[in-house]
Amino acid sequence: MSLPIDEHVNAVKTVVVPAAGMGTRFLPATKTVPKELLPVVDTPGIELIAEEAAELGATRLAIITAPNKAGVLAHFERFTELENTLEERGKTEQLGKIRRAAGLIEAVPVTQERPLGLGHAVGLAESILDDDEDVVAVMLPDDLVLPTGVMERMAQVRANFGGSVLCAVEVADEDVSNYGIFKVEDAEGAGEDPDIKRITGMVEKPAFEDAPSNLAATGRYLLDRDIFDALRRITPGSGGELQLTDAIALLIDEGHPVHIVVHRGKRHDLGNPGGYIPACVDFGLSHPKYGPQLKRALTQIMIEHGVFAEQDITDVAQGASG
Ligand code: UTP
Repeated sequence: MSLPIDEHVNAVKTVVVPAAGMGTRFLPATKTVPKELLPVVDTPGIELIAEEAAELGATRLAIITAPNKAGVLAHFERFTELENTLEERGKTEQLGKIRRAAGLIEAVPVTQERPLGLGHAVGLAESILDDDEDVVAVMLPDDLVLPTGVMERMAQVRANFGGSVLCAVEVADEDVSNYGIFKVEDAEGAGEDPDIKRITGMVEKPAFEDAPSNLAATGRYLLDRDIFDALRRITPGSGGELQLTDAIALLIDEGHPVHIVVHRGKRHDLGNPGGYIPACVDFGLSHPKYGPQLKRALTQIMIEHGVFAEQDITDVAQGASG
């Protein structure tokens, strides 16, 4: 697993997945079940992230976990007893499903003893990096950025501009106050590509009038190794948490190039029920086994809730068949 960095197709060997948060927005489920293990249809969110990291060409998933969240790591271990039982019973498909996570990527545990913030969590990953790793990817397991592939674009931008690269999505005016919003300028040398910008600052959850753009931060980061030094130089904010965005802001202030790639696809926030439910519906509707049945059930539910009248559905169905 210790290939030199230049043999990794996108020059990323390690993906850091901070998963030590308390998940308070998802209580009571997260009292005992880590939110990273909540299923999107049948697959835990963290396995979808591991798949994205493997696609990127990374070979190591540094999972930052809390002492009471051992189940997150266990998901990437072999479960011989269950495997044997499934094998004996000829349940080949299910066997493939439980072996899949362990085969995707090497998961390496890093323990964050106390939830001291995303910046603190990311900083802990430095100890497991090899000497030749000058860049590290961070993927927040709460965030699904679809279709996958934005990290590859970000790696390309880093190859062109150096420094660090983040991912943004465009949000509606009424939503800017829910996100970290980027202040941007045109990136010199980006040519005609409107989706690549240089960042000059970031504002956390601004009022619409104060928002410098509609470009909101997502949970995908490609960070130069300098981030660890910056994390050591910032001080904790409110609640004693060390913020990753403060370390990125420090790098920007010091002239380190930081760019964004604007992602034009979809994004699901699995970190709260309001985002998790639509993600399950979206994945469920695309699922070959459950999709058709879910579509019928949802249609019925929407009629019951007065979202559509039965006649609207009949009209749409007739329109589609005529
Ligand atoms: P969030 O703030 O979205 O997650 O952190 P949280 O703290 O689990 O959620 P709430 O607000 O209590 O509901 C973003 C990411 O950073 C990780 C979280 O696990 C999540 O993936 N994180 C956050 C850590 O690993 N350690 C921390 O101290 C804080």
